Amino acid sequence: MSHQPKKPTEKSSMETRRSFLKKTALAASTMALPTVSSCMTINTITAPVPMRSTKIKTIAVLWYSQTGNTQKCGAVLAKSFEEKGFTVISGDLGHFDRTQLQDIDLLVMGTPVFYYDTPDYAKEFIRSLPDLKGIPVAAYVTFGGPEGNQHNAACTILEELVQKNGVPVGLKAFMGVSSYPLTFESEAKRTDQTPLPPNQDTYENVRAYGEFILSQVETGKTSEFKKTLTLREFSTYFNPMWWNKLAISDHYIIKENCVKCGTCIEKCPSHSIDLDAFSVNTDTCVLCFGCINNCDYQAVNMVYNSKTVTGFNTFWKNPV
Ligand SMILES: Cc1cc2nc3c(=O)[nH]c(=O)nc-3n(C[C@H](O)[C@H](O)[C@H](O)COP(=O)(O)O)c2cc1C
Ligand code: SF4
Ligand code: SF4
Repeated sequence: MSHQPKKPTEKSSMETRRSFLKKTALAASTMALPTVSSCMTINTITAPVPMRSTKIKTIAVLWYSQTGNTQKCGAVLAKSFEEKGFTVISGDLGHFDRTQLQDIDLLVMGTPVFYYDTPDYAKEFIRSLPDLKGIPVAAYVTFGGPEGNQHNAACTILEELVQKNGVPVGLKAFMGVSSYPLTFESEAKRTDQTPLPPNQDTYENVRAYGEFILSQVETGKTSEFKKTLTLREFSTYFNPMWWNKLAISDHYIIKENCVKCGTCIEKCPSHSIDLDAFSVNTDTCVLCFGCINNCDYQAVNMVYNSKTVTGFNTFWKNPV
């Protein structure tokens, strides 16, 4: 279904039903969550095959990033490898030439945490890769909240890479400013994040992580990682993105503001935007907020729980 523009003030029975469903979901999960143990191991990630080689010449650092946090950490990591004399292929995973995989001796992949997990887009990318044949692999995530299930989200990246016969050597989570629009106001009030993360402290940790990964490979060490059943992990079983979508009553492109720069199209992982019709296919949209977060012209209209959403670029230009 293509969502047609309508006036933001318009109320509908659909909205009432959404609100009811959302409240029901929240109540159900509140009742269920306290019964979940927070330390139960649900998967132990180990090497599926021996490491191909302990010699490194070429390293790939690939990331998926909506608002730049994961990209910045990846760029720092790539630079630190380059400074040590390695050949580095780095960039957005959507632009990665898969034929280069045969020349790679180490693969590092980073994503943001979306809805307590690594985004489906990144999972699908990994699933589309050929057999990694024992290439050492390391994961990192950037996340916005201290209880964002970040460890498990990074485990998911490794789980997927191990399915492809990658050999796990490292996993790390780095805090970034939240790109989830509904949290911006509380983020802006926090006093412990000047300058906003990721910042120089983060980058020091990123470089240290790079050193760790290299030492793991050069000494032939693989690591074992445990995914545990946290409350946040439990909530992923109920598809939090889908419940969030129920709270959206408007999502379209404002024709008068749009300069057709194409950024939203480029950022949309589900090809849900039609710039000719100025519409968004709300069925295929995965509510990543990439369009609204990256539009510099306030041309994406989104209403969440009757409140107009402000995007990342707009908000952080002038945080209140
Ligand atoms: C749709 C969406 C869902 C998010 N979900 C989580 C989450 O579950 N846990 C968390 O810690 N941060 C969450 N965040 C915040 C991002 O993980 C965090 O800001 C990340 O650093 C953004 O990376 P990027 O700038 O590379 O896109 C979410 C952000 C968005 C846009
Ligand atoms: S990013 Fe904004 S201005 Fe650019 S095409 Fe999309 S809606 Fe229009
Ligand atoms: S249309 Fe949906 S999936 Fe596409 S960028 Fe916007 S929020 Fe993300």
